[in-house]
Amino acid sequence: MPDERIAVVTGANRGIGLAVVRGLVERGYLTVLGSRDLAHGEAATASLSAGEFVLPRRLDVTDPSSIAHLAAELADRFGHLDVLVNNAAILYDTWQQATTADLDVVRAAMETNLYGPWRTLHTLLPLLRASRHGRIVNVSSEAGSLSGMGAGTPAYAVSKAALNALTRILAAELTSSHILVNAVCPGWVATDMGGPGGRPVAEGAASVLWAVDLPDDGPSGGFFRDGRPLAW
Ligand SMILES: NC(=O)c1ccc[n+]([C@@H]2O[C@H](COP(=O)([O-])OP(=O)(O)OC[C@H]3O[C@@H](n4cnc5c(N)ncnc54)[C@H](OP(=O)(O)O)[C@@H]3O)[C@@H](O)[C@H]2O)c1
Repeated sequence: MPDERIAVVTGANRGIGLAVVRGLVERGYLTVLGSRDLAHGEAATASLSAGEFVLPRRLDVTDPSSIAHLAAELADRFGHLDVLVNNAAILYDTWQQATTADLDVVRAAMETNLYGPWRTLHTLLPLLRASRHGRIVNVSSEAGSLSGMGAGTPAYAVSKAALNALTRILAAELTSSHILVNAVCPGWVATDMGGPGGRPVAEGAASVLWAVDLPDDGPSGGFFRDGRPLAW
């Protein structure tokens, strides 16, 4: 069905990604629930009430072949992609300081949190270009804001600052397309990564979905939380 609206969410088997999938399905998107372990993705899909509008697929953002496999299926079945939510991330390294950081940990964070979205974008961009209303949402964090940056979480903070930089560059390179590219912070959210005390997962997801819902003349190349600009 060429007119069907299609979305892909990475790291969607739990946390904010799963809630974003729920929100996309409510909006009428046929949504790929990307999960690096397919069994976890299928279990997450079964937990959703509208599971028939969800495609659980193995998608490891560090594994180019898994992304290429998905791209080939989407090209074959739909010929386009409307929304890419780069949500997967790891290593909120609260135990580290930059002065003594394990660079293997930093490298691992960059591999998933920066190169993951980057290579996913590379592979899916031809499909996004075929959309009339493409949206790329890079799920970032205020921890990556240079203006507010202090000590600690060096791997995570540097990876999110770099993701923010990538967001700006991509937005500038894609201005003549119909694709809006934004970075979004979901706020402190009570997930496995955020821990207890954060706000409800649905609120974090709503911050992300705001950037999906933007009109065609909406902002691109920005950094937002709850629809309001954040300082870079
Ligand atoms: N929670 C917060 O307070 C907070 C604040 C600011 C920003 N964020 C951002 O929000 C996003 C979602 O965070 P969350 O709190 O929902 O985290 P989470 O509960 O830890 O979930 C992370 C998800 O990413 C997946 N993932 C990890 N590595 C992957 C890979 N290589 N390929 C594909 N998926 C992978 C995980 O899969 P597995 O189940 O297989 O591990 C999991 O589904 C992240 O970008 C995070 O940096 C969160």
